[in-house]
Amino acid sequence: QINEAAAVVFSVPSYACQRRTTLQNHNTVLTEALSLLAENAELNEEDGRAIAFRRSEAVLKALPKAVTNLADLRGLPCLGEHSLKIIKASRKGCDVLKDGVSSEVETTRQSDRYKALKVLTGIFGVGAKTADRWIKMGISTLHQLQASGETLNQAQQAGLEHYEDLNQPVAKAEADAIGDVVQKVVLSVLPGALITLIGGFRRGKPTGHDVDFLITHPEEGREVGLLPKVASLLKSQGFLLYQKTTRNSYLESDDGPARLSSNMDRFERCFSIFKLEMNPGTTRSGTPRSSSRTESQSDDHSPQTPGGVHENGLDSRRRSWRAVRVDLVVSPISQFAFALLGWTGSKLFEREMRRWAGHEKAMSLSSHALYDTKQRRYLRAASEEEIFAHLGLEYIPPSERNA
Ligand code: CTP
Ligand code: MN
Ligand code: MN
Ligand code: MN
Repeated sequence: QINEAAAVVFSVPSYACQRRTTLQNHNTVLTEALSLLAENAELNEEDGRAIAFRRSEAVLKALPKAVTNLADLRGLPCLGEHSLKIIKASRKGCDVLKDGVSSEVETTRQSDRYKALKVLTGIFGVGAKTADRWIKMGISTLHQLQASGETLNQAQQAGLEHYEDLNQPVAKAEADAIGDVVQKVVLSVLPGALITLIGGFRRGKPTGHDVDFLITHPEEGREVGLLPKVASLLKSQGFLLYQKTTRNSYLESDDGPARLSSNMDRFERCFSIFKLEMNPGTTRSGTPRSSSRTESQSDDHSPQTPGGVHENGLDSRRRSWRAVRVDLVVSPISQFAFALLGWTGSKLFEREMRRWAGHEKAMSLSSHALYDTKQRRYLRAASEEEIFAHLGLEYIPPSERNA
């Protein structure tokens, strides 16, 4: 079964931050299978399993061509027993891995619990814990949630109200349109401010689940307290359907940046739902309105939004606007490079970079700073390139951080 002669030898370093991972993926069948199992583990808060699947997925994403032979996998890092089993199952009964199906993946995909977790965590403001609590109460659809009389917080209410829109991918053109609005408002509050598109769009992704912006100002300190003003201006101009602004808590934290939990940061930030006006005739995201979500599969053909129609009384297809999740983050210029690096992602790339820093360099990396444990000092950086250099890593540009 293992064809030694035809085996391709891939040389892949073990940390994702040592690799160049573009959006061109030659192993989508395998990576989608592993990604589903990772997502399922995340939704069930099985963090160790989730990370193991994410690492395997990322190794396959980094390969320069499709895996066609099990021997191709020899010597690859991060492929644990379970991931290998999935990969093998995915090719069972066929010459190539292409049309394989792993029964574990299919069983998971079709399980009631997975489907319910997906639907419920698809509500903005609902995480794995809340979804699990609801499922244990017998709530697994949006209708059941509404009928349950459960108290929803403001984020969840907004999430439910804009459920359909928020589960539609956001196109780059929509991100740019929002960027124009944000830029105008930010500059009116703080002239000279710098606004950068971050997250998946900075990595070159054509779509995203939200739009992320990082804001700073060349003069340290001028950025303090910016977001409450920006948020209230955006709100008064009718651009915000929901917002929650949190002030910077970095300086007052007593645990110090080096001890911040690995993926938390303390920047001033605003999590919002943006109201994006669309040109007449523009199809939203250019994607079909129906999706494969559980709610749409009910046989009464009712719309996915629980109320049936939007609060403005129009069918979503005839509205002139859509809701989009937007994250705004503000960093002082002295921390800008760290914030930029930390908020560009991908999430796995970031996690691997912090792991590399800790395990290989005895350093502690966060979105605020880089601390050298041996020298007992913070290492300054004015650019992402300098951070990679401090860490002894080859510079990887955003478009190659799609691990
Ligand atoms: N991030 C973070 N702290 C948060 C939320 C996000 O540091 N509380 C970071 C993530 O680690 C990631 C980046 O911000 O590097 C963007 O996060 P997110 O928007 O969730 O993901 P994207 O990569 O932008 O993917 P998508 O297109 O789905 O939005
Ligand atoms: Mn994003
Ligand atoms: Mn995401
Ligand atoms: Mn985000």
